[in-house]
Amino acid sequence: MEVVIRDSREAAALFVAKTIADMVRRKPHIVLGLATGRTMEPVYAHLVRFHREDGLDFSLARTFNLDEYVNIPPEHPQSYRAFMDRTLFDLINIDRRNTRVLNGLAVDANAECAAFEQEIADCGGIDLQVLGIGRSGHIGFNEPTSSFASRTRIKTLTPETLRQNAPLFGGERNVPRHVLTMGVGTILESGRCLMLVTGAEKAEVTAAAIEGPLTSMVTASALQLHRRATFVLDREAATKLKQRDYYEWVYANKPHWERPA
Ligand code: F6R
Repeated sequence: MEVVIRDSREAAALFVAKTIADMVRRKPHIVLGLATGRTMEPVYAHLVRFHREDGLDFSLARTFNLDEYVNIPPEHPQSYRAFMDRTLFDLINIDRRNTRVLNGLAVDANAECAAFEQEIADCGGIDLQVLGIGRSGHIGFNEPTSSFASRTRIKTLTPETLRQNAPLFGGERNVPRHVLTMGVGTILESGRCLMLVTGAEKAEVTAAAIEGPLTSMVTASALQLHRRATFVLDREAATKLKQRDYYEWVYANKPHWERPA
């Protein structure tokens, strides 16, 4: 696992955006796994800028989003479909038919999740999965005790996650309690994982994910099992890491051709 530490929130987001852009340029038919949330907003803003200023081309790309709220229509401003349209898809040249977000209104949630898994497989799998971490240690909406072998399915959110997302819904009471989410096992099958974490409030759980034991109580720790996972942190998110100096030393001594940004 690689740990990259940048001086600021902005620099960390730029690093992630440049890494995604680099992969899109190398493989125009790329299959991207995308995350939503506040951490991702500056990343998508950079991708939009690269598209407008440098012609970054998404016309052949396909995307699969990690998760969606149950019982929220796609046009609801806090649905993850609306988030993606607003922050990225409507602002770049991606073919909307190639953007897949789970349908939170599906009558048969199990069938919807199975179809989603099949579509990923039909595309040959996800090349690059972008991730954020929740305060509960989740990736996607894989809350504590989610099996490392789990596939896309319906989950109940923890009270902690409801509190994390409450500001966006005007209070905890309004946050949907159920979600559809890609499984940990599904995420682990992607070719590369790129996790962005910013802010002091995530420092503790990030250290647990990177340096703690493998445990389904912190599902992000499953990334220790991935053959190509990179954590990109700002300084604030890195404060609880015991081996911080070592990670910086490794990065400083990395061959220049392996440094994307
Ligand atoms: C969202 C997702 C979640 C978020 C995480 C962090 O699609 O999968 O795991 O990445 O909850 O959210 P923010 O960035 O809002 O702190």
